[in-house]
Amino acid sequence: TQPAILVARAVFPETLERLSQHFQVESNQSDESWSKEEFTARLQGKAGVFTTGSERIDAELLAACPDLRICANMAVGYNNFDVEAMSARGVLATNAPDVLTETTADFGFALLMATARRISESEHFLRAGKWRKWSYDMFAGGEVHGSTLGIIGMGRIGQGVARRGAHGFGMNVIYHNRSRLTPELEAECKARYVSKEELLKTADHVVLVVPYTPASHHTIGAAELALMKPSATLINIARGGIVDDAALAVALREKRIAAAGLDVFEGEPQVHPDLLTVPNVVLTPHIASATVPTRRAMADLAADNLIGYLVHGKPKTPLNPEVIGAK
Ligand code: GLV
Ligand code: GLV
Repeated sequence: TQPAILVARAVFPETLERLSQHFQVESNQSDESWSKEEFTARLQGKAGVFTTGSERIDAELLAACPDLRICANMAVGYNNFDVEAMSARGVLATNAPDVLTETTADFGFALLMATARRISESEHFLRAGKWRKWSYDMFAGGEVHGSTLGIIGMGRIGQGVARRGAHGFGMNVIYHNRSRLTPELEAECKARYVSKEELLKTADHVVLVVPYTPASHHTIGAAELALMKPSATLINIARGGIVDDAALAVALREKRIAAAGLDVFEGEPQVHPDLLTVPNVVLTPHIASATVPTRRAMADLAADNLIGYLVHGKPKTPLNPEVIGAK
């Protein structure tokens, strides 16, 4: 008999169809929000689960789901997984890297430009019927081309943002990361390694692309915001919690930095109420990877991992490959 799997959220019908060729599939096409108890109950007897980045997989859940062998995340970020607990139980974790790199870098740049050039703010003004006449300083923003782009987190997506800035907009690119890129990659991205402090002090635009871990919690808080130029913008396409949103709202209100562009939030889909009332912030609902082809590729990769592991013993993008075959 075919293994049973759970698809925890609504996905493309084609993805379900493909999974159904290999598995007994229980799915959530109505996209209900399940409590932890309900999620645990539905996982009984399931060998695999297709998650989307919002479902928490931790030691308690794993203890209650002894049949589970793989959790396949349709996201590159996997801070919803306790990978250590999964390894301890012999459960494979997979994510969806690479297929969203360029699309997410595109969005980082879109958000940077919308923020620096005040696109959302000026559109709201126009839609509200407030545009009466042209004036010399109306929505004058910060320069993008030729400015200094500071990237914190120089993984694949950070490198994509760097290439766009350096090659497309003639920006001076600096970066900070746990480890330095190879000289070849630095040359390709035209990016110079600097300390976090130097980056914050000199960048005109700071883009955050670090994964969320306890160590990256509040990478940007009041102290870091205080180092930034008053004319600078801050862009978060990484994860909620990388930025202290309450401190950011204060900095924006007091114009200690010029503007921010945020695609991710602490406690999303809740958004800090103060961020909703300051004008100099562009807010989007976690859509950086949201193009039709990329979301399909992410879903395909998560499905590839489930089929690859449960049917053939070979997942495509394992996070803890040491557990392969443990269960
Ligand atoms: C989206 O946030 C992802 O991690 O893929
Ligand atoms: C993160 O995993 C990235 O690709 O930047």
